[in-house]
Amino acid sequence: MNRVFIKTYGCQMNERDSEAVAAMLRARGYRIVNDENTCDVMLLNTCSVRDMAEQKAIGKAGHVAQKKKRNPRFILGILGCMAQNRGAQLLDALPDVDLIVGTQKFHQVPDYLDNLRAAQEAGTVLPTRIVDIAEEAGSQNTIREHVLEERQVTAFVSIQQGCNMDCAFCIVPKTRGDERSRPMDQIVRECEELADRGVREITLLGQIVTSYGRRDYTHTGGVTPFVQLLERVNAIPGIKRIRFTSPHPRGFKDDLIAAYGRLEKLCEYVHLPLQSGSDRILRAMNRPYTRERYRQIVDDLRRVRPDMYFSTDIIVGFPGETTEDFEQTRELFDACNYDMAYVFKYSIRTGTPAAELADQVPDDLKEERNQVLLRLLEQNSDRRNATLVGTTQEVLVEGPDKKGVGYMGRTRGNRIVHFAANERLIGELVPVTIKRVSTAVLYGELELAGVER
Ligand code: 5AD
Repeated sequence: MNRVFIKTYGCQMNERDSEAVAAMLRARGYRIVNDENTCDVMLLNTCSVRDMAEQKAIGKAGHVAQKKKRNPRFILGILGCMAQNRGAQLLDALPDVDLIVGTQKFHQVPDYLDNLRAAQEAGTVLPTRIVDIAEEAGSQNTIREHVLEERQVTAFVSIQQGCNMDCAFCIVPKTRGDERSRPMDQIVRECEELADRGVREITLLGQIVTSYGRRDYTHTGGVTPFVQLLERVNAIPGIKRIRFTSPHPRGFKDDLIAAYGRLEKLCEYVHLPLQSGSDRILRAMNRPYTRERYRQIVDDLRRVRPDMYFSTDIIVGFPGETTEDFEQTRELFDACNYDMAYVFKYSIRTGTPAAELADQVPDDLKEERNQVLLRLLEQNSDRRNATLVGTTQEVLVEGPDKKGVGYMGRTRGNRIVHFAANERLIGELVPVTIKRVSTAVLYGELELAGVER
């Protein structure tokens, strides 16, 4: 009765939260299983950023609830953003859910499962449900345990929770609460421990990492707390690569740009959400920067690192977005030459300012604009990959590829590479010469003199 299956929807932050929940459950004697058909407990860690993400989880929960008819002891829980967003209301649509746990209470999941199971053991007849979506001071410090696969090379580290930006379209300030940072020492210690366990690449996670520690630490010599944190992680010998997500253009100041010139482990891949290339729409979105300022950051970064890779988030069809507004987005999107992008069709989120705006854009127009950007992205990505053929890239070997034919790793620019290698090279940085490419994957050969393939 202790097999737990966790299904995660949404962003890397959610994945990290699920991993921490899994680690805490394991420590409590639960088994984390990969097969949803053999579990006694199913936890859905949910996303609210678009309606579709919520509907997917609700659909899944409705379907899984059928299991309770066959097995009344089966436990179904909804965790994370949608739990926070909808709370006990979820029980109206999903009366068979046993557990609803918000984003500040992940660390309570083991206790709550223990309690539910104890109630079952005691033969409680009435359904026992637990709903906890309260705020909790210090909850940003509770996402710290890791479950590492054997020889896991990359890891996410949560540095901050919540966001105070109030972008007009975004539900996150409601689901994740106020911006709170973890102490720098704690984060650095966690990275050191991960390095001791074999991790070589760290991705620092937060909703707005460029604001990290702004209320807790002072700038030293014009260096923001976030860059101070990068410096400290850069100094950990076992860590070979650092990434982070997501920064805000407003906080992407000169000290961070300069960091790319001096912190050798900071990978030349920046995910910089643009959202829109129209100043009018940026204002309506309550995004405090202009297209010109955004372009300046991209250009400055390319000056420091000519080989910089960029990815972005775009919302098409924000209320009131005209053909001209979209044309501005298309033009800037093209000019920035993104290597990767996440394009979203605007989705009304109840409770956000933009939900109240007139001038909602019809679905077919959103879809058309979506397709325009996706086609551009594919062209940009193909163009980038074509330039990589014949070059030798530094690759961090992560492990066997999915098909089990060879090995896979990533370049510093976050391109996936497949190549023949040896198990001993997992966790090593190796030179790989790129021989051929597809849109999504590079195929290469190891360039190691005297090393057996
Ligand atoms: N509709 C569509 N996309 C959204 N995002 C956030 N809120 C919405 C919304 N209401 C996108 C933004 C953000 C990413 C995580 O999700 O682009 O950067």
